[in-house]
Amino acid sequence: MASITRPVVAIAGATGHLGKHVTTAFLSSTFQDKFSEIILLSRNESCLFQPSSSQAGVKLSTRRYNEDNLEEALQDIQILVNTVGLAGHDFGTKLVDALPGTNIRVYFPSEFGVDHYAHDFAHPEWQQKKKHFASVQRVVPHMKICRVFSGLVLKDMGPAFGLDTQNGKYTSVGSFRTPVSFTSVVDVGRTVASLATLPAEKIPDVVHVGGDSRSVAGIAGIMESAGAGRIDIDCLPCERYKKENIAGTLSRPESYVWFLMGDGGIAHTAAFLGNDNELVNPGQRLWRWKTVEDLAEETSGQPAKDVGPGHK
Ligand SMILES: NC(=O)c1ccc[n+]([C@@H]2O[C@H](COP(=O)([O-])OP(=O)(O)OC[C@H]3O[C@@H](n4cnc5c(N)ncnc54)[C@H](OP(=O)(O)O)[C@@H]3O)[C@@H](O)[C@H]2O)c1
Repeated sequence: MASITRPVVAIAGATGHLGKHVTTAFLSSTFQDKFSEIILLSRNESCLFQPSSSQAGVKLSTRRYNEDNLEEALQDIQILVNTVGLAGHDFGTKLVDALPGTNIRVYFPSEFGVDHYAHDFAHPEWQQKKKHFASVQRVVPHMKICRVFSGLVLKDMGPAFGLDTQNGKYTSVGSFRTPVSFTSVVDVGRTVASLATLPAEKIPDVVHVGGDSRSVAGIAGIMESAGAGRIDIDCLPCERYKKENIAGTLSRPESYVWFLMGDGGIAHTAAFLGNDNELVNPGQRLWRWKTVEDLAEETSGQPAKDVGPGHK
């Protein structure tokens, strides 16, 4: 019987907030034996995350890289997951330049949030992501590039999204009945690991997942049932809010997120942007998605009281 060679996967930004969860997923017993080697890339090897899980059957290694040795550092890798943070945009540009000199077949760019390609306005952070994607397409046109969109981060469900549970006040821009997709960072990591196990030709160019998709009204009901007390919902007119905020000079996407929530721009469901949960986790046999109800139960109806940037 012909032996099947398992691919080598590398994770850039493995020390980061999301990168740690992606790394944990690849190293989990569900996925690790699908790869012959898992390489963690960092500019500073000494601070590399030390995984606690067993790595039986898979070689785990670390590589130190910098802007000047990228082509060398990316040798003998078939799948590259980029989880470098937004501060690393220029580094990402150098990484793109190095790609033609590598054997990488599948590339996951650093997306993992809102599908900003579906929107009709510009935002600096999202523009950088678009620019990066366009460069990869231009430089390595035959490489499989898979952009994974996971919506909003479940644990960040709080005032920055207009969901001020602590003060019993939710603000909806547009409809409070439109679904909004939330995914835990653990499940984002699993999503990427699962996609990386597929043959390159079966990996879609664009993937939308959602651990749970709930409307603002639905979330209010779930939090109330879990002990939040009464939550009132204020509704702001979408078009006016959108016009005022797009015209402004906001550097963080939170305000944009508000009206995207209302107009279906973060709805990873069949009726809106589509949903690939079944592709990455058929019948939830690989894991059980963390839901809004799980979060409500865990926090007694009081999820994130405040969040900073990073939930794009
Ligand atoms: N944070 C979230 O909750 C969240 C949620 C949804 C989506 N996302 C998306 O996920 C991706 C990763 O975000 P993150 O918040 O996890 O990133 P992060 O923690 O800020 O950074 C991840 C890693 O990127 C590397 N890095 C940072 N600055 C760099 C630079 N100037 N040059 C080269 N490398 C640099 C660092 O690794 P080394 O120092 O080891 O090289 C760092 O540990 C982004 O696309 C973000 O939009 C994040």
